[in-house]
Amino acid sequence: MLRDSFGRVATDLRVSLTDRCNLRCSYCMPPEGLEWLPKPELLTADEIVRLVTVAVERLGVTEVRYTGGEPLLRRELVDIVARTSALRPAPQVSLTTNGIGLARLAAPLAEAGLSRVNVSLDTLDRETFRRLAHRDRLPDVLDGLAAADAAGLRPVKINSVLMRGVNDHEAASLLRHCLERGYELRFIEQMPLDAQHGWRRQDMITAEEILAGLRESFDLTEADPGERGSAPAELFLVGGGPARVGVIGSVTRPFCGSCDRVRLTADGQVRNCLFATDESDLRAAMRAGAGDEELAERWLAAVRVKKAGHGIDDPSFLQPSRPMSAIGG
Ligand code: GTP
Ligand code: 5AD
Ligand code: SF4
Repeated sequence: MLRDSFGRVATDLRVSLTDRCNLRCSYCMPPEGLEWLPKPELLTADEIVRLVTVAVERLGVTEVRYTGGEPLLRRELVDIVARTSALRPAPQVSLTTNGIGLARLAAPLAEAGLSRVNVSLDTLDRETFRRLAHRDRLPDVLDGLAAADAAGLRPVKINSVLMRGVNDHEAASLLRHCLERGYELRFIEQMPLDAQHGWRRQDMITAEEILAGLRESFDLTEADPGERGSAPAELFLVGGGPARVGVIGSVTRPFCGSCDRVRLTADGQVRNCLFATDESDLRAAMRAGAGDEELAERWLAAVRVKKAGHGIDDPSFLQPSRPMSAIGG
């Protein structure tokens, strides 16, 4: 088991399949994009499946989430999902995506064993989307969402990062849109993970502000907190339920104490936290001929030294050098 020195056990593996993306959301990437990882440094599909197999068979991982960058850009995605779903004990396999391409891929992914998807959607206004993501792709995202729902990839969860003066006036309309379609919307506090290092604590819309804003239009009651477990989202019943809305207050209401996550980057580095300062290079070990036993040992050692929390409030906090797109959301 991937146990750290505080007794937390990582059972949820998040694997970034590529650092590339077809959007340029301002909280993540500059409009001109980034210097992408060179191809030889990326894990091959076989290497990814091998490491995921080690995690599932030897290290107690029960959930595997593929992320990016944008994971739908990875050509072998359907194959990777199928091979992951075939592992025993069978992990739950999910995807976090911007939705572009899901219209075509939702059905084959469901067929391959994908259980559900989380999709980023920060606005329903085409012009705001273009300004925020620097690409005119809102219709593709909405088509992708409909396809995911139709393919049974449920519950479809939506991630919205609210930004002051950009999309914060849309919170209520985003929630109505999701309630009408049965999607579970989660509003997310923006974290200091943008490549531009432009995050300012005082600009961030806090979970408290998000909830106060929503309460102007909706009746919210706390959903059973006993159900939350290690999930980042605090859930609220809307109008008495069963519809729900979530708030992910990573910065002001951190959930590091119950974190059950570990990450593998597209270039084969284990990160024990989004905000980790060290990584463990499984790609180099694997390419130098390490066996599964040795890979598992290295993975255990990497998780053992996980820090207690992200430390964003510490005076000595330093934003990780990798941006969100190269870590995996
Ligand atoms: P499920 O609730 O199981 O569907 O997954 P999730 O909400 O964890 O997954 P998703 O990839 O959709 O992540 C949603 C948001 O949670 C991300 O945008 C992050 O803001 C936040 N998040 C995910 N993982 C972590 C983490 O390890 N630490 C912190 N602080 N935030 C995280
Ligand atoms: N802070 C919070 N959430 C972020 N995401 C991307 N960058 C940030 C950030 N700086 C979210 C996206 C996506 C998920 C993977 O992470 O909205 O849904
Ligand atoms: Fe792409 Fe996701 Fe970053 Fe937006 S947040 S640019 S969709 S990787």
